[in-house]
Amino acid sequence: MAMRTASSMRSALHPRQSRGYEPYVTRSSTGPRAAEVAGADAAATSLFTCGSLNDWLRPEAAPFQGLHLKRCITWPNYQVEIDRCQRDFGVEAQIERTVFSKQVGWTDIPRAADEILRGVTLPEDLLSTIRADMCELGITVASLCPWSKSIIVKLELMGEHSCPRWHRDNYCGRGIVTYNLAGTEYATDDIVDFWELENCGNNDHIIRDVSKVRQVNVGDMLFIKGNQFPGGSGGLVHKSPPVQYSDIGVVLNRLVLKIDVP
Ligand SMILES: [Fe+2]
Repeated sequence: MAMRTASSMRSALHPRQSRGYEPYVTRSSTGPRAAEVAGADAAATSLFTCGSLNDWLRPEAAPFQGLHLKRCITWPNYQVEIDRCQRDFGVEAQIERTVFSKQVGWTDIPRAADEILRGVTLPEDLLSTIRADMCELGITVASLCPWSKSIIVKLELMGEHSCPRWHRDNYCGRGIVTYNLAGTEYATDDIVDFWELENCGNNDHIIRDVSKVRQVNVGDMLFIKGNQFPGGSGGLVHKSPPVQYSDIGVVLNRLVLKIDVP
């Protein structure tokens, strides 16, 4: 499979970087810390943080439970548009396509991206970013899981039905990007009470030290290994950020791209 160079990939991923949009406020001051400078926290957090999707395919990334591409982007505030497009997502609040590997590679990912985004009424620059992410993240996740014959590309609107319980995924892995509000929270094994985690314990008791919980930023790319991922690193313990509400108590929707490997 032909991979893009790191520099060409970065330029595709930062289409709005120089346009001076207002930065998004993604968390309260008491919330978890964002991942630190690229690479600096990798050994301590079980997360391999780097500056290029190509780095996820390097041998030194293999032992980690999660792979993280930090994207220093200032995001426009799309909350109004995201809440407004709820009807486009139907009762399931998600649109997905299964993409199968062909002899020539994962050539159907761009078509799946177009099909998913066709009926979604979001600003053109956001749609363009999501489409690029579907293609870039899709092919990288597929490359990380060469045994897999299919991936599921899914765009989801997460409101009240998000998954706020700490858990490990019981499949191979998931690539994920959040486009507004707040990114995925994660915890290293050393702060997890695995008895509580695996025996339906109290969510508040699963994490031994909540001050060490971390969170990726809006716009970052994250690959979360699940329990079925080969190699024995174990799944990354993670959860969705808490549901957020407007000043008048209306739930705010979070727009999330997922690339799943069953
Ligand atoms: Fe999960």
